[in-house]
Amino acid sequence: MAAAQISIKRVFGHSQGSSPLDKKRAEEDNRTGELTENETKEVSRSMDYEFALREYPRLEGKDVVLRRFTLGDAGDVFEYASDPEVTEHLTWESHGSIEETISVMKKIFLNNPFMYAITLPENDKCIGSIDIRIVEKHNYASFGFCLAKPYWGRGYMTQALELMLELGFKKLDLHRMEGYHSPVNPAVGRVMEKCGMVREGLTRESSLVKGEYRDEILYGVLAKDWQKRE
Ligand SMILES: CC(C)(COP(=O)(O)OP(=O)(O)OC[C@H]1O[C@@H](n2cnc3c(N)ncnc32)[C@H](O)[C@@H]1OP(=O)(O)O)[C@@H](O)C(=O)NCCC(=O)NCCS
Repeated sequence: MAAAQISIKRVFGHSQGSSPLDKKRAEEDNRTGELTENETKEVSRSMDYEFALREYPRLEGKDVVLRRFTLGDAGDVFEYASDPEVTEHLTWESHGSIEETISVMKKIFLNNPFMYAITLPENDKCIGSIDIRIVEKHNYASFGFCLAKPYWGRGYMTQALELMLELGFKKLDLHRMEGYHSPVNPAVGRVMEKCGMVREGLTRESSLVKGEYRDEILYGVLAKDWQKRE
């Protein structure tokens, strides 16, 4: 019952804006006037987010474009996913073959509105990935990303994360966005800092990476603080 009340409040509380998510919620408001508990359950927030994200298949920054993955990216993905330096701090093992990459892409990357390929506008090369992980109940999201080594240090991930924060706050009405990094991988913390996120603390052994529990440093930003930067 409590969850249903939270959902009703949220559905009615976000029908003022002009994003696809707002429009869908406004349609629901107009249709029912008042939602019953069962109707509220139907308006799954997960479906709302999926619906909204499908409206944004392409996000353009100055030097990077975020777009949906296609199977044509498999060669580029294998290049970075097979590099142990790229996967060192990630939960997954380096890919051993292009077949493995294709299989992972089919299962996880393709037709996934929560995931974007990071590409170069000049040649459409896929140089990495970034995905948004929404915790519907609390209206926040975290994210994960990786980038091919030849492209490190050029500001690309900072731009990709800026695009994700803009998506999360402006289009999805999220309240908070957060990210974690390993203390031995400080570049990720710097990327988050450059995007206006603040260090909130260290979570002990909160990540299982390559069979080993590791500490993580948590960064976060609230919508109201992020909006002040604009
Ligand atoms: C970490 C990673 C995402 C950074 O992407 P990127 O495009 O190189 O990042 P940017 O160029 O936008 O910014 C990197 C910043 O980190 C800084 N940096 C790099 N190495 C650093 C280090 N060892 N310590 C502190 N800061 C460092 C850079 O100087 C830069 O900051 P600046 O602009 O103030 O100089 C990328 O290197 C990567 O994909 N690594 C492997 C996978 C990975 O670690 N993924 C994240 C797991 S949580």
